[in-house]
Amino acid sequence: MTIYSTIKSTGSYLPEKILTNADLEKIVDTTDEWIVQRSGIKQRHIAADTETTGNMATIAGLRALKNSGLKPEDIDGVIVATTTPDRTFPSVAVKVQAELGIKPGLAFDVQAVCTGFVYALTTADNFIKCGQAKRILVIGAEKMSSIVDWNDRTTCVLFADGAGAVILEATEHNDGLDGQGIHSTHLYANGNQRDLLQTSGGVSTTGDNGHIEMQGREVFKYAVSYMADVVGEVLEHNKITPEQIDWLVPHQANIRIIESTAKKLNMSMDKVVTTVDHHGNTSAASIPLALDEAVSKGDIKRGEMLLIEAMGGGLTWGAALVRF
Ligand code: UT7
Repeated sequence: MTIYSTIKSTGSYLPEKILTNADLEKIVDTTDEWIVQRSGIKQRHIAADTETTGNMATIAGLRALKNSGLKPEDIDGVIVATTTPDRTFPSVAVKVQAELGIKPGLAFDVQAVCTGFVYALTTADNFIKCGQAKRILVIGAEKMSSIVDWNDRTTCVLFADGAGAVILEATEHNDGLDGQGIHSTHLYANGNQRDLLQTSGGVSTTGDNGHIEMQGREVFKYAVSYMADVVGEVLEHNKITPEQIDWLVPHQANIRIIESTAKKLNMSMDKVVTTVDHHGNTSAASIPLALDEAVSKGDIKRGEMLLIEAMGGGLTWGAALVRF
C-alpha cells in the first residue's frame, strides 16, 4: 500500500465586478477584436479596492472546506500560491488558517507566479506522501489588478483576479494508475529567462510592488514549447497515451497556447477545461478556478484522469497527473 494525495474537494471565489473588453476599450487603445483574437479573453473579474488576495483565498478555502464535509480541525496545513499577497509578510496562508479556524500546523505561501498552483500542489503532495500531514488546504489566489499598469495595453487586457482551492487528503491504496490521487508532478524553472516576465520593482529594489512587464511574444513562444515538453514528460513517465487522459486542465493565459497543447496531445477541445474567455489570466488562481468550475458543472467526474499544466514568470513551468 502506498500513500497518495487525493483531491477531496474544490472551491473558488470570483470578485463581483466584471470588466469586459468593451470597458477596456475606454481605458487603453485596444479593441475587443484584438483581445479575443490574440488571447481568447472576453471578460474578467476585478477585485474591489477593499478586497484582498487573503479575503478571496479565505472564501475559496471556506467553500472547499464546506464541499469536503470536513471541519477546520481536520486540516493539518495551508499552502497558498500567490504573487500578490496582502502584505510582504506574514503570508496569506496564516491569514486563511486563522480566518477559517484551522488549528496550528504548517502554513506558508509559495511564489512561482502563474505556475504557483502546480508548485503548491506538488509541495502539499510531498508533505502528505512522506506522512507529515494528512490533509492540506491548497489555494491559488491573486489580485493581479493591483500590479497591472493600467496604461499598458499589452498586459492590462490579460490579467485578472480570483481564488481557487482544493483539499488534498492522504489515502492508501495499491500502486497503479487506476487509483485516485496525484500520480506524478513535474516542476521546472529557467532563471535565465526571468526578465521576460517580471515586475518593474519590489520590496528590496524600488521599495514598491512594481507593475507587470512582459515580452509577450517571447513568453508565448516558450509557453508553447515548454507545455509540449512537460505534457510529453508526463505521458512518458506514467507510460500512458493521450487517450487515457479524460481532461486537460491548463493554466488559462491564452486560448492559442491551450489549443497548441491540446493539439500536441491530439485531444479534442471539448476535453479541455477552458475558462480564459470569462476569467482572463488569474495567474496562480487560474487552474483551481477552472477545476472548481468544471467539477461544479459536473463536467469533471470522480475517477477521471486529469492532466494539469502551467507556465509563468521565472520562467517556471510544471504539470501534474491526477486521478480525480
Ligand atoms: O501567464 C503567464 C504566461 N503568460 C503568457 O503565457 C502570455 C504569453 N503571450 C501572449 O499570450 C501573447 O504574446 C499576447 C496575447 C500577450 C500578445 O499577442 P501577440 O500575438 O504575441 O501580439 P504581439 O505582442 O506580437 O503584438 C502584436 C501587435 C503589436 O503591434 P505591432 O508592433 O505589430 O504594430 C502590439 O503593439 O499588437 C499590438 N498590441 C495591441 N493592439 C491592440 C499589443 N497589445 C495590444 C492591445 N490592443 N491590447
